[in-house]
Amino acid sequence: MNSATLELPVIVGSEQEQGIDISRLRAATGCITLDEGYANTGSCKSAIAYIDGERGILRYRGYPIEELAERSTFIETAWLLIYGELPRRDQIRRFSDLLTENENLHEDMKYHFEGFPSNAHPMAILSAMINASSCFYPGLMGAANRERFDIHAARLISQVRTIAAFSYRKSRGLPIIYPKPIYKYTANFLHMMFSEPYQDYELKPEVVRALDLIFLLHADHEQNCSTSTVRMVASSQSNLFASAAAGVCALWGPLHGGANQAVIEMLETIVESGDDGSKFIAAAKTKASGKRLMGFGHRVYKHYDPRAKIIKTVCDQLFASLELRDPLLDVAKRLEEAALSDPYFVERKLYPNVDFYSGIIMRAIGIPKEMFTVIFAIGRMPGWIANFKEIIDDTQGRIYRPRQIYVGAPERHYVPLDARGPSAPR
Ligand code: CMC
Repeated sequence: MNSATLELPVIVGSEQEQGIDISRLRAATGCITLDEGYANTGSCKSAIAYIDGERGILRYRGYPIEELAERSTFIETAWLLIYGELPRRDQIRRFSDLLTENENLHEDMKYHFEGFPSNAHPMAILSAMINASSCFYPGLMGAANRERFDIHAARLISQVRTIAAFSYRKSRGLPIIYPKPIYKYTANFLHMMFSEPYQDYELKPEVVRALDLIFLLHADHEQNCSTSTVRMVASSQSNLFASAAAGVCALWGPLHGGANQAVIEMLETIVESGDDGSKFIAAAKTKASGKRLMGFGHRVYKHYDPRAKIIKTVCDQLFASLELRDPLLDVAKRLEEAALSDPYFVERKLYPNVDFYSGIIMRAIGIPKEMFTVIFAIGRMPGWIANFKEIIDDTQGRIYRPRQIYVGAPERHYVPLDARGPSAPR
């Protein structure tokens, strides 16, 4: 063990967060740090989102999430995340125009949808199609990437919504509905999802607002699994669409974005089994059961997730204004109440996260559960793009390349097949 002493600088963030800068550590001592799961590791400096998990605070570019949820829209928030300031009127107008000009997929991309089986998961389609779209825009590669960034960013935000709606229509065997330029972002998505060639979908303002808010609340969340993936891919100078496609894959898992689908599946199982929730809570406390209370717990929040608070209120408002009832909502509320007073959850500081109530809203809107994580991905796109931009704007940036501690076999030598011992019986 090398016992050298090394003084390391402490980097202080704008909210007084402190990080020990270990970039000289290996060169000076021969040691690296080991932090499996990265719970203590800052991978970058970033000016996009700020979270204080102990106090339940989330801000985008300094603005509290509660203020943005009340006063902004998803598209305005997207601009804020990507460019760092609230847009002026001319800036938001240009952004809207770019979104409209780029909302249609290249017509040949329609053939790609034909190749997927009808039961393909929409996250697989989304990731594949985002990657495929980069083939249609050769300017996306290389140096042109930075000069035409505004167009590529708007194109990605606009087209991810078109791809998502097309993949839903395809999975149902329904004809594709093209976007309508007169509709704003979220209304247009609902139109492409639910209109029919013979009848336009009735856009209820409270439904449009609820979905717009879900997009806004998902728009960024600093260095989570998918955003870190986007930055990792971008650091090798891959293009924006390739980086975002990788983000979609990382988001898909049930411990990350896939949790919103997993929550509804959990609630459905509970209702179908006749459980009032207490049996499931008991199982979730036992590791051997392999069950977790989905939509609960967070790596960073050790307090109620501020997004979950907003979503719960919106859920209640939507159900009241549309006069809806859903047994899953009743069970969710019972589960939350039970967990918040149960020592297992209290001691581990496990609170509802953003996914606990969002699925119930989407279900009420008529979005099938396989699409929930796709909705998360549409919402997260501005955050991924903003993080991608930080990488390409950093002229000192280096490729992301973590180290490891090797725990495999020591050096050994090749043994010919005949000398490897008898085969096991089949
Ligand atoms: N139900 C039951 N026990 C839990 C849960 C849960 N939902 N979450 C954590 N625990 C327990 C865990 O078993 C461990 O117990 P012990 O200390 O006895 O070993 C302790 O709490 C700490 O858990 P952890 O797995 O070490 O925590 P983590 O920071 O690695 O994981 C998490 C965070 C979000 C993956 C986890 O809480 C979880 O699996 N939650 C359910 C899935 C979910 O809702 N994911 C969405 C996250 S928010 C949206 C997003 O960012 O994608």
